[in-house]
Amino acid sequence: MDTQKKKQVKKMKFKMAFIGFGVVGQGLAEILVEKKDWLQKEHGFEYDVVAISDMKHGSVYLPEGLDVNKVLDMVENGKSLDEYPQGETGWEPLKTIMESNADVIVEVTYTDMETGGPALEHVREALKAKKHVVSTNKGPVATHGRELVELASKNGVHYLFEGTVVSGTPVINLARSTLAGCDIKEIKGIVNGTTNYILSQMEEGMEYEDALAQAQELGYAEADPTGDVEGIDAQGKIQILSNMVMGGELKLNDVERDGITGITLDDVKEAKKEDMRWKLVGSTMKTDSGIKAKVGPEKLPLTHPLANVMGPTNALTFSTDLLGDVTIIGPGAGKKETGFSLLVDLLELNGNMEG
Ligand code: HSE
Repeated sequence: MDTQKKKQVKKMKFKMAFIGFGVVGQGLAEILVEKKDWLQKEHGFEYDVVAISDMKHGSVYLPEGLDVNKVLDMVENGKSLDEYPQGETGWEPLKTIMESNADVIVEVTYTDMETGGPALEHVREALKAKKHVVSTNKGPVATHGRELVELASKNGVHYLFEGTVVSGTPVINLARSTLAGCDIKEIKGIVNGTTNYILSQMEEGMEYEDALAQAQELGYAEADPTGDVEGIDAQGKIQILSNMVMGGELKLNDVERDGITGITLDDVKEAKKEDMRWKLVGSTMKTDSGIKAKVGPEKLPLTHPLANVMGPTNALTFSTDLLGDVTIIGPGAGKKETGFSLLVDLLELNGNMEG
């Protein structure tokens, strides 16, 4: 056991407010409950969830901390959080951000990939109020990522978003920390779990609609799965990698895009006969004329490393000057997997609190 980890360090107890409490927020809440003692023992990480504000599940604020198990139970049983027996209810997201005693905002609301709103305003106002933000919300990072990181820094807080690309599989942190000494020339791979799952199921003979319905049931797909199957979710992730890792300033539509809706079961069967496989591939690369980025279906030979990445698993290859190619493969979507990415961001905040 790493003795450094065991070092007893006095840290602050985080007071967290969830803005949004859908699949991802609940995923984090479940992990926080399950690992509460372990997190305290291993990392000195302690927390209270003081507020939740969600369009569908209602909202509640209790400054001394909610019973997270009870909250999860209420949501599972279709009860509004407005019925929580203590605290104040009915608070809107911005009121929760500004007026609650939370020092960490977990922003997991709906994403608009074109404007970043309304999540953008949540993140901005939280940072202005000197509250840390951890978020899986792609919109604000894709559209205003660098501005928000600077705003956080100016206000002495952090804006962390590991889960915006490939859920909890460490991609942003890999590029930002571990590969920091390399010039990354290109990033290429599979960045959408839903479409990779659908294409994998179609290869087993399942109809497109049935595979999509399964992906929705399993919590891989966005609230509106059009974003997944038309390639918009992947386009946003490639935009984030282009801007936050490669130093570009791309708008969403600067990333060329095509989805998988044009691929039929016959196309998949035909490819199989040729020892090939359809994959939705995204890439961003540095060129003499700037960053070039795209997303689209590619028919790959089975010998290609990406061809064997199946189901909701994603993979990204970083082509670097000093290390050559570095590939990371891991979950690309899912309740716990994405909840985990927020835990990683919280532990990074916790690490930063060390004296
Ligand atoms: N809908 C997304 C996917 C979730 O399928 O990859 C993670 O962003």
